[in-house]
Amino acid sequence: IKNKNLEDGQIIFLKDVRFFRGYDIMNMQQEGMDMRILIKNASLVFEDRVEKGDLLTEGQRIVQVGGNIDAPADQVIDGSSCFVFPGFIDTHTHFDLEVGSTVTADNFVTGTKAAVVGGTTTVLDFATQERGMTLMEAFHKWENKAKNSSCNYGFHMAMSEWNDARIAEVPLMIENGVTSFKMYMVYDNMRLSDGVMYEAIKYLAKEDCIIGIHCENDDILKARVKELKAAGKTGSRYHAVSRPNIVEADGVGRLMDAAYLAGGPAWVVHLSTKEGLAIARRARERGQEVYLESCPQYLVLEESMYDASDGAKFIMSPPLRSKDDQEALLKAMAAGEIDWIGTDHCSFTMAQKAVGKDDFSKTPNGGTGVQNRAEIVYTRAVKGGYLDIVEMGQLLSTRAAKLFGLYPRKGALQAGSDADVVVFDPEAPHVVHAATNLHNCDNSPYEGYEAAGKARDVLLNGQLVVENGQLVAPGKGEYVHRDRCGRYRK
Ligand code: URP
Ligand code: ZN
Repeated sequence: IKNKNLEDGQIIFLKDVRFFRGYDIMNMQQEGMDMRILIKNASLVFEDRVEKGDLLTEGQRIVQVGGNIDAPADQVIDGSSCFVFPGFIDTHTHFDLEVGSTVTADNFVTGTKAAVVGGTTTVLDFATQERGMTLMEAFHKWENKAKNSSCNYGFHMAMSEWNDARIAEVPLMIENGVTSFKMYMVYDNMRLSDGVMYEAIKYLAKEDCIIGIHCENDDILKARVKELKAAGKTGSRYHAVSRPNIVEADGVGRLMDAAYLAGGPAWVVHLSTKEGLAIARRARERGQEVYLESCPQYLVLEESMYDASDGAKFIMSPPLRSKDDQEALLKAMAAGEIDWIGTDHCSFTMAQKAVGKDDFSKTPNGGTGVQNRAEIVYTRAVKGGYLDIVEMGQLLSTRAAKLFGLYPRKGALQAGSDADVVVFDPEAPHVVHAATNLHNCDNSPYEGYEAAGKARDVLLNGQLVVENGQLVAPGKGEYVHRDRCGRYRK
């Protein structure tokens, strides 16, 4: 009777039903169901304010928040010098991604360990439907990959085809908790036309699903790659030269127009430029429903870094930009114009990157970051004076939970919400090193970054899985079956 509407009081057999109101009933029978954890004297980060108080979890839920809670508990955590956030949600990861014959260094086992130690309790990874594959095949492939994850996980479905057969599978995706999709304007094996995007936006809007678009002008960037190579300009820095700001802005503009005509929402993944931002802003001014995601790399890393001897580790798309772009994105975050921050974690080792040593265009695209998102946003944007702590919670958790059909189960410190909770220490200076990150990669674009604070303790589904920065209970992640999108900008 999976997927039937169930009423309160209706008698059902657990063997017959998997999900009830989005909760995975099978997994609710795991160990730790009755455990009570009490966090005392913390600065609780709600959606609109910070308040000193306590938080109590029981089993997999938060049961009481705020004020002085005097209740027996199996574990008591002193939160007195810390902020307590709803578990962070990384909206953009690529674990176990195959690019041709190259596979990312991080699979779900390693990637989610890094995620949860950094305070991320849910990742939304891009399952990829390769051409000729059904959406269900891609879904099952990702379900298998994600077993033994150390944080909760859901999937967006990246589509490489849009035809009657694939459209017919969209209801199956929704039934399985996948309510967000992605299409690329680039990459020969994935690229789809503007017309297809227009159709997909229109169709998915009616289902209250959303489609994220990787916005770049593929034709122009390819022409520039050809030109640069012909001129002998093959080093890592030319990756950025081949894809200047306008290459992204053109893609953002085409997406905005397609969404305008389709009458549906536009979601720009990994926005990196002030020009793209300006176009999205204009679209909002003409009444469009626009969701903007950016990433930590576009807030703290710059184009000049391609000149380093290990410049290949910064080869990602879109490329690193200028200080002006960083400033524009930070101000947009402060103004509430950027909706959430995802990492685009896509891990290739230096040996894998070396394939492009004589030709930047052969370097596999992507960089790591899943462990470092919260500490970088805190250091750069909060300590840097752009955001307050409430806005940090919105950017790292609440808005993503809302849009991606997880709210208020996740993204909220509320009685009844899932007990995914981060105790964040704002006074924990440390330096980021690839070698000490839990990811399975020998490099980090943030190597040497001086972070001011970090996640100290993490509760996942009501269990203390990270204690004093150490992963003490790996493999406790569960699949998150998502509802339709909560289109809060509609
Ligand atoms: O360079 C990147 N971002 N690699 C991952 C795939 C994508 O484009 O999102
Ligand atoms: Zn990506």
